[in-house]
Amino acid sequence: MKVFKSALLLHSELANQRKMGRSIGFVPTMGALHEGHLALVERAREGNDTVVCSIFVNPRQFNDAQDLQAYPRSIEDDMEKLMAAQVDILFLPEYADVYGADDVHETIDLNGLDHVLEGRQRPGHFQGVAQVVKRFFEQVQPNRAYFGQKDFQQTVVIRRLLNLHFPDIQLVVCPIIRESNGLAMSSRNERLSTDGRNKAGFIFHTLLRLRERCHFKSLQESLEISRDYLQSKKGVTLEYLEAVDGLTMKTVQDLEDASNIVAVVVVQFEGVRLLDNIILKNAAGN
Ligand code: PAJ
Repeated sequence: MKVFKSALLLHSELANQRKMGRSIGFVPTMGALHEGHLALVERAREGNDTVVCSIFVNPRQFNDAQDLQAYPRSIEDDMEKLMAAQVDILFLPEYADVYGADDVHETIDLNGLDHVLEGRQRPGHFQGVAQVVKRFFEQVQPNRAYFGQKDFQQTVVIRRLLNLHFPDIQLVVCPIIRESNGLAMSSRNERLSTDGRNKAGFIFHTLLRLRERCHFKSLQESLEISRDYLQSKKGVTLEYLEAVDGLTMKTVQDLEDASNIVAVVVVQFEGVRLLDNIILKNAAGN
């Protein structure tokens, strides 16, 4: 695995690869890697000649300075995992390698996606995500880019970014990898106690029951039952549980309102924000 800290050197290495006709798959991450990240790498490995992974804890997407400071960092461990997963190139930039010495802030028109749900709870977050991913796409120029369904709204933001600026990059959204109790894997899970981590499977189980229930009760009634259940659980603060159009993130009232519908949830548990989602309906009509 070749490691690049400089965007310039990375750029010339990838230009050579492209000249040789090699396709490039790109997996951006913030490190503290787990099986969810590695599943993206595996998909990229299957579909491309060269796999590029980046690790960069992007300050611009943290709306909370304490969250940024507490974000887990484990670079040695991460590098071992990426080598074992046969990543060809690791991009490990510093802030100035990403944003340039002049630190330009370019606002990206996210068509309101950055102001709803996760965007409303975390002002500035999706602007920060879109800005860093735009810089990475310019630097890496991949054929395909791999993102997890785990951060569902992020995948919608990235699709918007691609439509605006990179129509030739293919977005590959990969399924959520879960712990054995159903908890969606996340770098932030490390902040839970062992007991909390064991119990946190209730989030996914609530989503599974919601998916079943909304086929014999109304969507709104089903959502209300699930919200009441989450709110009744000890130590849980429900931030939101909504059913949204999977293409626009607009909330839907009824299962007939859109062809892709996703239930998105965020709860705080032991002071940790936990995100999850489940597809209630997809374009194939399931
Ligand atoms: P990070 O949280 O490190 O996640 C990197 C990628 O791994 C994202 O696409 C995320 O959705 C995916 N991922 C995380 N947990 C997953 C799981 N349990 N199953 C499947 N995929 C999972 O998301 C970011 O970093 C940043 O916002 C980034 C895109 C790198 C921009 O800074």
